[in-house]
Amino acid sequence: MTDRYAVVGNPVAHSLSPQIHAAFASQSGADLEYTRLLAPLDGFAASVAAFRAAGGCGLNVTLPFKLEAWRLATRRSERAEQAEAVNTLHFDGVQIFGDNTDGAGLTRDIELNLGRAIGGKRVLLLGAGGAARGVMLPLIERKPAALVVANRSPDKALQLAQHFSRWGDCSAQPYAALGGMAFDIVINATSASVAGALPPLPAGVFAAGGLAYDMMYGEKAALFLDFARQLGAAQTADGLGMLVEQAAESFFVWRGVRPQTAPVIAALREKR
Ligand code: ATR
Repeated sequence: MTDRYAVVGNPVAHSLSPQIHAAFASQSGADLEYTRLLAPLDGFAASVAAFRAAGGCGLNVTLPFKLEAWRLATRRSERAEQAEAVNTLHFDGVQIFGDNTDGAGLTRDIELNLGRAIGGKRVLLLGAGGAARGVMLPLIERKPAALVVANRSPDKALQLAQHFSRWGDCSAQPYAALGGMAFDIVINATSASVAGALPPLPAGVFAAGGLAYDMMYGEKAALFLDFARQLGAAQTADGLGMLVEQAAESFFVWRGVRPQTAPVIAALREKR
């Protein structure tokens, strides 16, 4: 019998996940179907229940339902627990297991695909919303020399850093205080570019050889990455690799098989 999965969101038509999971499935010849599920804004739980009742095995969850998915899960991984967001649901007998693979997607992309260590490096995370929170624990677990969170609303960065400081060294700084500090990796987890805006980074924020990473991909990442190059970033990357890596991690959660990501990332880049 074909195993059924889907990505649930609103909107969801733009999602690349069906393409990515179809590629993963074909690597191992797995008999699975992966579709898009548009849930009404007030009908997430009912949509999930219907998908599950029809024999669905698991779901990816995208905006704006990650917090609702977190609430719906009857069991959660530690990384999902701390992210307060779930992007992967696995229907496991009577349980609904909730996981969050976004942070692992980010760290695997930086370390394995871009070949950059996080451990021992100085990392600056821009933003303190859901996207930033989702990657905090996996970043801390890589043991950076410093993890600094900067946010337009400094209080939110402070709260985030305080919450996660029990797992490892992290701190918050207002943008205005970043002058004179240099980082090996600067990660944009803000939604600033959606409004055509840029986080106010000072000159000198990139250490020699520094990497600028935007968690968005394609055109949405271009504004920040151009800015980062002007500020002296030696290497830039958008979040397409993160997207594929988080999908691979979800595939692993569901099926215990780790797909090959490099050919899938390459194929997506070629099409764009
Ligand atoms: P997401 O789920 O994408 O993280 P979010 O929770 O709304 O969305 O968070 C958006 C993040 O982008 C926040 O950190 C926000 O800063 P504030 O907390 O001060 O709102 C940040 N952001 C949005 N527009 C920005 C801008 N023009 N400059 C800098 N940061 C911005």
